Amino acid sequence: MGSRATPSDAIASAVAALRAGQVIGLPTETVYGLAADASNPEAVRRIFAIKGRPSTHPVIVHIASMGQVLEWAREFVPAARALAERFWPGPLTLVLPRAASVPLEVTGGQDTVALRVPDHPMALAVLQAFGGGLAAPSANRYGRISPTTAAHVREDLGDEVRIVLDGGPSQVGLESTIVACLDGHVTVLRPGRIGIEAIEAVAGPVTPASLSAPRVPGSVVSHYAPRTPVELVAPAAVADVVSAHHGDGERVAVLAPSSPAGAASVAWIVAASDAETYGRDLYGHLRALDLAGADVIVVARPPDGPAWVAVQDRLTRAAAR
Ligand code: TXA
Ligand code: MG
Repeated sequence: MGSRATPSDAIASAVAALRAGQVIGLPTETVYGLAADASNPEAVRRIFAIKGRPSTHPVIVHIASMGQVLEWAREFVPAARALAERFWPGPLTLVLPRAASVPLEVTGGQDTVALRVPDHPMALAVLQAFGGGLAAPSANRYGRISPTTAAHVREDLGDEVRIVLDGGPSQVGLESTIVACLDGHVTVLRPGRIGIEAIEAVAGPVTPASLSAPRVPGSVVSHYAPRTPVELVAPAAVADVVSAHHGDGERVAVLAPSSPAGAASVAWIVAASDAETYGRDLYGHLRALDLAGADVIVVARPPDGPAWVAVQDRLTRAAAR
């Protein structure tokens, strides 16, 4: 996009590209998405090719409003409807029985479809002008950290994606909470900013995720990982762990709630003390630390408690190798 393009020019070009079956970078409030026409199997296959993602992994369909749910799902049960009314537009994805017309490329061959109305003015403008659904996984290469700025998308995929809409930094910063409403059960498949208590307050008791729950490739253990190994340690142990690495001649990058106490490191980021700010900034911080040229990234384990579930989840995966 030329820098003189107005937002409405940018949106018109994006919609034209989507209609032509192309893939674009789309800002949302959670993370940036790699979006294509969800009704066009070839366009959806292009997303998988760019990401390097296995084609059996399903993708989320983004829609402009609740009124479009039944174009994609064959049932919109009351629990799902209540969740959509309360949290859409917002960082909530609903997994519902799919309508017969949904391409297999979107659902990974499953009989369910994941739907979300994003809470971002640019994403909503594109969805409204486009009129249909947009399949969009996070706009990172498979297994890497999700992008929370347009610059992250360009760094990762800039050679292959011509249009990356710049909607500023993502305000939630972690992927949406995924909730399945299937067979009379409400199940949380991926934690996010909207916590289990908030889901239960609207939809009633949540069934624990079990082996019978639908596959969620985002739950592959090694997801969300920087290239540099990540070590999660108790906050009180950070200084000792850093010294031990230095003793071994290793360079260390750190994300911790307090500033360095004399410990020389290639990078030290002071983490926010509230879960929302921590979550918003986490992926950007991990990217910065990953680029610092360290041998290891030491992260102080954040507090326990309901507000921190999504952050703990992503950090645990980042630390798994
Ligand atoms: O916040 C988000 O959800 C972002 C933005 C771009 O909307 N998208 C995102 O997409 O995180 P992705 O592809 O990185 O993760 C989508 C997750 C995957 O773990 C996928 O398995 C799950 O949604 N998913 C999609 N369709 C599903 C289905 N039918 N059943 C179960 N899980 C599904
Ligand atoms: Mg992803």
